[in-house]
Amino acid sequence: MTTQTPKQRKTWLWNLLFLLLGGAVLGLLWLAPPIATPYMPRDEHHAPYFDMPKKEAEKHCFECHGPEMSNPLPKNHPPPYRCLFCHRR
Ligand code: HEC
Ligand code: HEC
Repeated sequence: MTTQTPKQRKTWLWNLLFLLLGGAVLGLLWLAPPIATPYMPRDEHHAPYFDMPKKEAEKHCFECHGPEMSNPLPKNHPPPYRCLFCHRR
């Protein structure tokens, strides 16, 4: 320790700072309450989409969940591009 130059000591400090920052960010992400995303219901409306590739299935969601349709998305819905990434089957 006594042989360290001031510069070396500073580098070491920066490394520690980065580690702490990374840890803090990870910790915050972990603690942040996840928004509860409803699963896609397993009922007669959605039955066809369970054994379809995701990209195929997502083409049909707006047939019922589009604006003006019977079951529009809620107003506060996040950007709805890939339904099945968020709504698990
Ligand atoms: C044939 C019409 C129809 C299609 C197509 C459809 N849905 Fe639905 N969806 C409904 C209806 C009706 C409801 C509300 C009643 C229910 O829970 O089944 C609903 C409800 C939901 C809900 C809310 C569940 C909850 O807990 O409130 C989610 C999430 C959902 N659908 C996702 C999807 C996704 C993703 C697709 C595309 C793969 C899709 N839906 C395609 C008719 C449809
Ligand atoms: C980025 C993630 C994400 C994507 C992509 C996404 N959703 Fe959602 N969706 C959510 C979350 C989170 C909620 C709950 C919102 C709330 O409770 O305020 C929700 C709510 C819903 C609901 C209402 C459920 C209820 O109980 O009222 C329906 C229906 C729905 N989504 C359908 C879809 C459809 C159809 C698509 C694709 C066009 C889609 N979602 C794409 C995250 C997503």
